Amino acid sequence: MVYDRRPDDMVRITTAELADKYIEEQLEALREQIGDKKVLLALSGGVDSSVVAAMLIKAIGDRLTCVHVNHGLLRKGEPEQVIEVFKNQMKANLIYVDAVDRFLDKLAGVTDPEQKRKIIGGEFIEVFAEEARKLDGIEFLAQGTIWPDILESEAGIKAHHNAGGLPEDMNFELVEPVKILFKDEVRIVGERLGLPANMVYRQPFPGPGLGVRCPGAITRDRLEAVRESDAILREEFAKNGLEGKVWQYFTVVPDFKSTGVKDGKRTFDWPCIIRAINTTDVMEVTVEHLSDELIDHLVKRIISEVPGINRVLFDYTPKPPATVEYE
Ligand code: XMP
Repeated sequence: MVYDRRPDDMVRITTAELADKYIEEQLEALREQIGDKKVLLALSGGVDSSVVAAMLIKAIGDRLTCVHVNHGLLRKGEPEQVIEVFKNQMKANLIYVDAVDRFLDKLAGVTDPEQKRKIIGGEFIEVFAEEARKLDGIEFLAQGTIWPDILESEAGIKAHHNAGGLPEDMNFELVEPVKILFKDEVRIVGERLGLPANMVYRQPFPGPGLGVRCPGAITRDRLEAVRESDAILREEFAKNGLEGKVWQYFTVVPDFKSTGVKDGKRTFDWPCIIRAINTTDVMEVTVEHLSDELIDHLVKRIISEVPGINRVLFDYTPKPPATVEYE
């Protein structure tokens, strides 16, 4: 049965058994809803869209087409993991779109954060719609809408526009197989569908991606410094047992330079800011205090491995007054 709302008496999915039962019911509901038609899905590699993809691959196989748009603002290794998990392992019908130049060219010189977000969101819809137009006979659009999205949009907190923005002439029927689930339930369901733990338990990552962690006008070299320092931070958190324990952690490379010395020569490079926070609702956040040893190690690695960085700073500011992201 396809639910429109979460039933009041629905038991929270906390065990493998409950997840398996949900999956079984949904596979049947999906097959009934879709029949022998085709479905399209924008697969970002985030938890929700990945779980929807895994569910639909099980339900309808290659009648699902996934489109993964690389907008150049993804973390290191993300597009590769999407291809490895979905195309190579799950044998999904996956279209990979390298739109890196297209996005970065459009963003060049744009400093206003909201304008950056608008460009990223708008360009994403354009690229996705272009791919959809190339395909024949698609009648459904799958989406990773989850229950809190619906609640927040009903409460007027967040405009829920997952489907939003697609051109008027593209009126697909929606397929939303995790729509009645909370995030923790989506993760268990994803695990039971065979997705890797680092995919289903990953930290939140904003839609505009690393674009908001490269404050001001995005340049390719500074964006690369964000990507590389973020990869080091994630690697060290995983090694030190902090992955899955700390809510969100990332690096920011602001657009100013300071003097330094390297190999006896003067440098004039960017700082790299580390942010690590904990929260339950992201309205209020506290800072995760790292050990001195870990901070020292991170400083050493980032300075020696990331071109363009000569200083590492740690952000000790809770929210409020500071937001999680820098723009
Ligand atoms: P802030 O910076 O508002 O962040 O304290 C709260 C949470 O929201 C995430 N975030 C975003 N997520 N699109 C998203 O999908 C966005 O534009 C965006 N801005 C912030 C942020 O990473 C944090 O988890």
